[in-house]
Amino acid sequence: MGIGIAYVAAKTAGVQVVLSDRSQQQLTKGLQFVDSLLGKEVKKGRLNNEEASRVRGRISAAGDSVEQGAFGEVDLVVEAVAESLPIKQAIFGSLATHLPPHAILASNTSSISLSTLAASAVNSKTGESRARQVVGFHFFNPVPVMKLVELIPALQTDSSVLDVARGFAERMGKTVTLSADTPGFISNRLLMPFINEAIITLETGIASKEDIDTTLKLGMAHPMGPLQLADFIGLDTCLSIMKVLQDETGDSKYRPAVLLGRMVAAGYHGKKTGRGFYSYTAPPAPPPR
Ligand code: 3HC
Repeated sequence: MGIGIAYVAAKTAGVQVVLSDRSQQQLTKGLQFVDSLLGKEVKKGRLNNEEASRVRGRISAAGDSVEQGAFGEVDLVVEAVAESLPIKQAIFGSLATHLPPHAILASNTSSISLSTLAASAVNSKTGESRARQVVGFHFFNPVPVMKLVELIPALQTDSSVLDVARGFAERMGKTVTLSADTPGFISNRLLMPFINEAIITLETGIASKEDIDTTLKLGMAHPMGPLQLADFIGLDTCLSIMKVLQDETGDSKYRPAVLLGRMVAAGYHGKKTGRGFYSYTAPPAPPPR
């Protein structure tokens, strides 16, 4: 999602963006995706070539270099790594150490506690906590299309930080909702049990995957059925969010579907791995000339 966030920040909010990823390949892929989105905007007449190259010029890639000063002038960072608490905690420790003192530390987490993440935002050189500058900044996929940002203050967040984050989300053209720091926030507390129930409906043989999805698409005007949406989000992400809901509430109504666990164990993580509830095989390459 990071590349979508960077694209909207550069295009709609008009700010300079520095991308960071441990994988150079991911950065290259991300920048190619930006080029293709801008190409489409030009083709559709929504941007001219000059405007598109101005947007592209606002995005640079700095590799995995928080510690090498690439973020020395940033005002706000949006962390969008995998939903793993230890990885996010390590990143917040590093950001707290290397970002300029005024910078806001935002997380695109979909379910992890912001108060827990904020507690790890400690400058390792001075021991100073930056917890009051941490905020949840939760986008939806595909970021350029979906109009929402869910804002989640940690217990430690300063109200001025929340105001700046809200203003920036609005500058990105998004509508903001506010959620308490509770498992899954508003969005995934409602969405994930719905997706999980669709998987249980499939695994108990009530209906085929196609009929489950068609029922929700045509009967309730959802843009995607729940199983198709699960593939789109990533089954590994769905499972980790259900586990957070279950572990943190202790409520059995959040038990992940057995089939969801099996799919993830098998490596069927949805669209990104080419297989989930559906298959996503790339069209065969054209024969060599
Ligand atoms: N990036 C950028 N733009 C994209 C895109 C992407 N990955 N995928 C589609 N689009 C754009 C297309 O370019 C097109 O734009 P245009 O109208 O300006 O030309 C527009 O979206 C519509 O695309 P398509 O015509 O190809 O396809 P659809 O009309 O079927 O729409 C969809 C695709 C927008 C993905 C639609 O199916 C949809 O809204 N699905 C539901 C998505 C959803 O629920 N997202 C939330 C997931 S939950 C989440 O993210 C939170 C996390 O915590 C789990």
